[in-house]
Amino acid sequence: MLKIFKDSDPLLRKRAEQVSLPLSDSDRELALAMLEHLKESQDPLFAEEHNLRPGVGLAAPQVGESKQIIVVHIPRGKTERLTYVLANPIIISSSVRRAYLRSGEGCLSVDEDHPGHVYRHYKIRVKAFDILNNEEVEINTFGYPAIVLQHEIDHLHGVLFYDRINEENKVRYPDALSL
Ligand code: CO
Repeated sequence: MLKIFKDSDPLLRKRAEQVSLPLSDSDRELALAMLEHLKESQDPLFAEEHNLRPGVGLAAPQVGESKQIIVVHIPRGKTERLTYVLANPIIISSSVRRAYLRSGEGCLSVDEDHPGHVYRHYKIRVKAFDILNNEEVEINTFGYPAIVLQHEIDHLHGVLFYDRINEENKVRYPDALSL
């Protein structure tokens, strides 16, 4: 279980440092601890006992490390999970089409509600170092996982989801998909 830094901390507004490759043992441990934190947060008994909010993504600055590491762990059906543990992720292409979560976005570092839609790219291609498989990868994804990845990559640039809430975007993206 890791300590989660809140959005009042200046660390959350900093640009995170690139991670050097080959990955150091300490960076690998950090990434795996972040994944473990998400798994624990999704375990209802553990979460209740430790007062954890369930999360599907985490970026290293949120646990006090200004490094370009992100973890995504999304439940898919009863037992399946979609998991990414990535270093130095960059979005190399993205669709013109936008999508947003109908219920809005949340963040483990943000306690207050920030109602409003966050318009993100519906499809993205991400280049990164895959820490679990120890290789450079390109990930093509769309819909919910693409939204979560964009949210986490934003953290590496000091951007929080509510920075992107803007009622004007409703007009700019009239055909955005609601997810
Ligand atoms: Co977040």
